[in-house]
Amino acid sequence: MSRLIVVSNRVSMPTPDSAQGGLAVALQAALRESGGLWFGWSGREVEKFNGSVSFDEVDGVRSAVVDLEPQDVEEYYNGFANRTLWPLFHYRVDIAKYDRTFNAGYQRVNRRFVEPLHVMIEPDDIIWINDYHLIPMGMLLRERAVKNRIGFFLHTPWPPTRLLVSLPHHEQLIRSMFHYDVIGFQTAEWLESFHHYCEHELGASIKGDYIHLDGMMVRAVICPIGIDYRDFVDGIGSPEAQSIADRVRRSLRQLTMIIGVDRLDYSKGLEERLKSFEHLLHQHDDLHRAVVLIQVAPPSRGEVEQYQKVREKLNELAGRINGEFAEVDWTPIRYVNRGYARAELTALYRAARVGLVTPLRDGMNLVAKEYIAAQDPEDPGVLVLSRFAGAAAQMSEALLVNPYSPEEVADALHMGLKMPLGERKRRFNALLQGIKKQDVHWWRAKFVDLIQNSEVVRP
Ligand code: G6P
Repeated sequence: MSRLIVVSNRVSMPTPDSAQGGLAVALQAALRESGGLWFGWSGREVEKFNGSVSFDEVDGVRSAVVDLEPQDVEEYYNGFANRTLWPLFHYRVDIAKYDRTFNAGYQRVNRRFVEPLHVMIEPDDIIWINDYHLIPMGMLLRERAVKNRIGFFLHTPWPPTRLLVSLPHHEQLIRSMFHYDVIGFQTAEWLESFHHYCEHELGASIKGDYIHLDGMMVRAVICPIGIDYRDFVDGIGSPEAQSIADRVRRSLRQLTMIIGVDRLDYSKGLEERLKSFEHLLHQHDDLHRAVVLIQVAPPSRGEVEQYQKVREKLNELAGRINGEFAEVDWTPIRYVNRGYARAELTALYRAARVGLVTPLRDGMNLVAKEYIAAQDPEDPGVLVLSRFAGAAAQMSEALLVNPYSPEEVADALHMGLKMPLGERKRRFNALLQGIKKQDVHWWRAKFVDLIQNSEVVRP
C-alpha cells in the first residue's frame, strides 16, 4: 500500500471530544492505515516566516504543519482564498475582491508550503491536495521535480465560465491544474462548468474523463463526498448526546422544532432562511406558539468584511422577527452563535421535525446528510434542501426548494411539518440508502483509487 500524503489548508488531528467532522475522521483513518502524513497550515502566526515544520502524532496519525506570518494570513487566507476565490466560486462576483497583493500572497504561501513538503515526499507516495486554497500546488510540486501521482479535490462549486473570467489571470490559475493527474468535483454540474471553461477559454479537448491541453492531460471526475455514517450514528447513544437531548426536550415542551446548522457564511442563505421562516409565521397563525426554529451558526472568517456584515444583518433580522412574533412564553427563533460537538449535533438533528438546509450555493453540504443519518427510523423528520446545494443531486427525495423564494421555502416547511408518517418514512428510507452506500469511506477509497490508477501523460 502506498503512503498517502494529504494536504489541506487546515489540518485536523484526532481529538478526544470527537468534535471533528466526517472529513477529518475519514482522512485520519486513511492516513493511519497507510502510515501517511497530513500537511498544511498550523493555524498559527509567527512574526517572520521561517519555514520550520512542526511534527506531531496523535492516535497513529502523523501531521506536519508550518506557521505563517501575518501578511501571509492576510493576503493568502483572508485575501485571495476568502475574499476572492470563495465568493467567486459561490457565484458572488458582486462581492469578490481583486487585489494584486492577494494573488501575490496566495502564490507565495503555496510556494512556502511546497518547500518543506517536497523534501518529505518519497517515490511511492501518493499526494492528495484539497480545496481552493491550494490550486497551484500541483504545478509547484512538478517544478520541484516531484513525479509522484497527485490528485486535487475541490470541495466547493466550480463557477460558470462567464463568472470565472472576471478573475484576473484566470487562465494562468486554471492551466496550472493540468499538472495534476486527477481532479475531483462534487457534482456533474461543477464538472460540466470546468469542461466548459477548459474547452472555451483554453481550447482544450475532452475525451471521456480526460482533458487534453498542449501535450498535457488531466482526468476530471465526479466523486461526491459522504459522511461517516456508522461513526455518526454511534454518537446518538453517547452521554453528550443524551444530555443535550434532555435539555432540548425540557425546553421544547410541546413545540415542534425546525433546525438549521451552518458556518456563519453568506453562501449559506441564512438571511433568506430567516425571512422564509418569517413568511411561514405570517401565513400560518396556527403555528404561533407551536414551532421554533433553532439556528446554530458558529462565526467564521471574522476578519473578512462580508462575514462581519452578514453577522450584523442576522443579529438584526433574528431580533426583528422575534420582536414581531414573540409572546411572553414563546420565542420563534433561537439563534445560537456557537458550535456544538458532533455527538451533540446528532441529538439536535434527531429532535427536529424538519432539517432546513438552504444554501444559495454549496459544493456539497454534509449537514443535509447528517440530518438524515440522525433520524429515528420509526419517526423520521423531513429534510428541506436547497436545489443549489451539491447534495441535491443525490438527495431527490428531500423537499427541494429555491432558497431565494420565501413562499416556496415556507410552503415546503409547512408541508414538512404536516407530512404524514408514511411519507416521511418513505422519503427517509430512500435518502438513508444513498447515505449509507456512498459514505465518506467510499469517497476516500474511490478518490485514492482514481489517483493511483488513472492514465498519466507528463509533458
Ligand atoms: C469549507 C471549505 C473548507 C474549509 C471550511 C472551513 O468547507 O471547503 O476548505 O476548511 O469551509 O472554513 P475555514 O476558513 O474555517 O477553514
